[in-house]
Amino acid sequence: MSAMKVTAEMIRRMKGQKIPALTAYDYPMAKLLDEIGIPLILVGDSLGMVVLGYPDTTQVTMAEMEHHVRAAARAQPHALLAADLPYRSYETVESAVAHAKRLVSAGAEAVKAEGGRQILNQVRAIMAAGIPFLGHLGMLPQSVREEGGYHVKGKAESERQALLADALALAQAGAFALVLELVTPPVAKELTQKIPVPTIGIGSGPDCDGQILVTTDLLGTFPWFTPKFVKPRLNAADQMRAAIEEWKKSI
Ligand code: KIV
Repeated sequence: MSAMKVTAEMIRRMKGQKIPALTAYDYPMAKLLDEIGIPLILVGDSLGMVVLGYPDTTQVTMAEMEHHVRAAARAQPHALLAADLPYRSYETVESAVAHAKRLVSAGAEAVKAEGGRQILNQVRAIMAAGIPFLGHLGMLPQSVREEGGYHVKGKAESERQALLADALALAQAGAFALVLELVTPPVAKELTQKIPVPTIGIGSGPDCDGQILVTTDLLGTFPWFTPKFVKPRLNAADQMRAAIEEWKKSI
């Protein structure tokens, strides 16, 4: 990856390529990911669990998102820096645009929100305000309470059809890419073949255009829970424990 600034349009044009994307919630991680050449960095509301200690993403506030977006943006990444609109911050067109603008003022260059046709007016209004939009379909973590857990999507034919209709609607509305979370691999593959913008999968099999992970899952810095579909590449928590133990004994 060159040092050229990555735009949403560049990510859109990466359809068909393998796009690596990861989350960052602070300056050092955003800087590290950028130095490695990750083209898309997400300040995800997963920060609620892996940084702030909440049980799920529904308690993450707008102020918390802004705080972490500011920290990541200080790394001035060449990567596109996207940020999640938190729970209930995009229930109306007006609030969606106002909150998206706040994330942009904090340093985000694109925003992500969960849902398809039911948030289409908000998505159109965000883009009409000049803010690139990243979709998120499949298992929607902000709906964990209504859904009573984190369930794989696309097993039933009705779910497959709804996912396809949502994906096409978001792409048509101008989303530059779509995150597909916990979508069955065959359905994720079908969506990837049928929609004109990149799909970025998480727990949705190998056939999406890109893949995104919560970086703490990949590195093992939040060892108390790792999703089944993640193979950590490092057990950083064990190494940190060992280093701290060694230092403790040394004083
Ligand atoms: O909040 C987040 O980190 C996300 C990714 C898992 C896609 O939405």
